[in-house]
Amino acid sequence: MAATPIAVITGASSGIGAATARTLAAAGFRVVLTARRKDRIEALAAEITEAGHQATAYALDVTDRAAVDEFATAFRSLAVLVNNAGGALGADPVATGDPADWRQMYETNVIGTLNVTQALLPALTASGDGTIVILSSTAALSAYEGGGGYVAAKHGEHVLAETLRLEIVGTPVRVIEVAPGMVRTEEFATTRFRGDTEKAAKVYAGVDAPLTAEDVADTIGWAVTRPSHVNIDLLVVRPRAQASNTKVHRTV
Ligand SMILES: NC(=O)c1ccc[n+]([C@@H]2O[C@H](COP(=O)([O-])OP(=O)(O)OC[C@H]3O[C@@H](n4cnc5c(N)ncnc54)[C@H](OP(=O)(O)O)[C@@H]3O)[C@@H](O)[C@H]2O)c1
Repeated sequence: MAATPIAVITGASSGIGAATARTLAAAGFRVVLTARRKDRIEALAAEITEAGHQATAYALDVTDRAAVDEFATAFRSLAVLVNNAGGALGADPVATGDPADWRQMYETNVIGTLNVTQALLPALTASGDGTIVILSSTAALSAYEGGGGYVAAKHGEHVLAETLRLEIVGTPVRVIEVAPGMVRTEEFATTRFRGDTEKAAKVYAGVDAPLTAEDVADTIGWAVTRPSHVNIDLLVVRPRAQASNTKVHRTV
């Protein structure tokens, strides 16, 4: 009997990562949930196991290269890596943005993705049929005012995906970039505005049905389960009410 394929998901303690873990587990993967908050990924792994699927949890900070390398020693063969850990800090204009925020966003979104991808690439290749998903954003494709450091970091992730795809062509690993527009998750905007829930709520104010974490997980699940020779290079997904990063229909 063939072994159950394994999928590693970073940032699985909330939002899109947690929803993706549920989706891939239901699709037949043994999911390995990682994030810094151990209690949350352990609770989610228990929930997924309860539902009759396979899940384990491993506390991991993607910016800690030594810890990432240690984590990677557990895998000789890996089917799927979803690089989802990341996010935004602040919405200041370039003129006044805090370099520390820019640095942290680059560390988490770009270097975090680089760390985990480098560490797990041998196992993905050894599987004979590996898939790397990179969760960038529509911020990876065009700028918006106040986006500054986040736009720069997500453009970095986009370039990482494009370059890696060029470099590993001919190996049995594909690189899929998923770039969502506005997604209402429980923590993304609250983290961006450092706990200011009023400011966070304004991001979604009057928008008829922003995407949900489940919508994005659904697109990831679809892309990952295409036949091996099909590579969804870049999948842009937005709510109907959002035509671009700056053109959002609001009823208020
Ligand atoms: N929401 C949106 O509108 C939207 C749109 C486009 C793209 N995205 C991207 O989609 C991804 C998920 O976003 P989301 O909306 O689901 O946000 P979220 O709910 O804030 O989730 C972010 C996840 O990243 C993890 N994380 C952050 N720093 C980490 C680190 N150093 N090491 C390991 N894990 C870390 C967090 O877990 P811990 O804190 O437990 O470590 C959390 O699980 C992000 O890359 C985000 O940039 C979001």
